Amino acid sequence: MRPDPSPSVAESMSRVKEFGILPVVELADLKQAEPLFEALCDGGLAAAEITLRTAAGLDAIRRLVAAYPTGFIGAGTVRTLEDAARVIDAGARFVVCPGTDPEIVTFCCEKQVLVMPGVCTPTEVQMALRAGASLLKFFPAEASGGAPFLKALAGPFGEVRFVPTGGINAVNLGSYLGLKQVTACGGSWMVTKALLADGDFETIRELTAEAVRVVATARGDG
Ligand code: 3PG
Repeated sequence: MRPDPSPSVAESMSRVKEFGILPVVELADLKQAEPLFEALCDGGLAAAEITLRTAAGLDAIRRLVAAYPTGFIGAGTVRTLEDAARVIDAGARFVVCPGTDPEIVTFCCEKQVLVMPGVCTPTEVQMALRAGASLLKFFPAEASGGAPFLKALAGPFGEVRFVPTGGINAVNLGSYLGLKQVTACGGSWMVTKALLADGDFETIRELTAEAVRVVATARGDG
């Protein structure tokens, strides 16, 4: 039997569930951090996974955590223990990794920060659970078999909860959220690099609001 997550991890897990979507952000320009988060909030989603794929990522997390204390701001593309330590120090409420590194999972659990290691095989699911993860990123979701793959995992891993990410959009979001193993979905479709490059925060707001409506409909309260 796995140990229960710490209270702060459990709280972050409920927030992931409550939002239903984690926007995956690749920010080229630190100055866009606040306008971007404003657009997400205006669309109804005070949450963002800021990836470390750009030099601005770490500072953007620090800045947003300070500016939006009630926002749900975390880090993505965390691939090393050093990066995990840096983003937690910057105030990230959750840590998302593309793959499963047991050392990173254990470290985040010790720090009582929600970690979502990436998995796309049953072996990786077992490895992530063994390291202490309570919520797993199914990545790359569409390319790895999508919703049918998750349904197939439900036999041996019925109690495990996933955040599918990779190839998700407003059209297929509902089919994932309809699965009992899916806590939320991650994705960049409402905050693409192109929209950010154009500074098109209005479209980001509209796509976010649309995604929020899809979540509400999928959950039967839309
Ligand atoms: C991620 O890092 O989680 C993915 O790149 C997001 O996938 P998407 O861009 O296909 O939504």
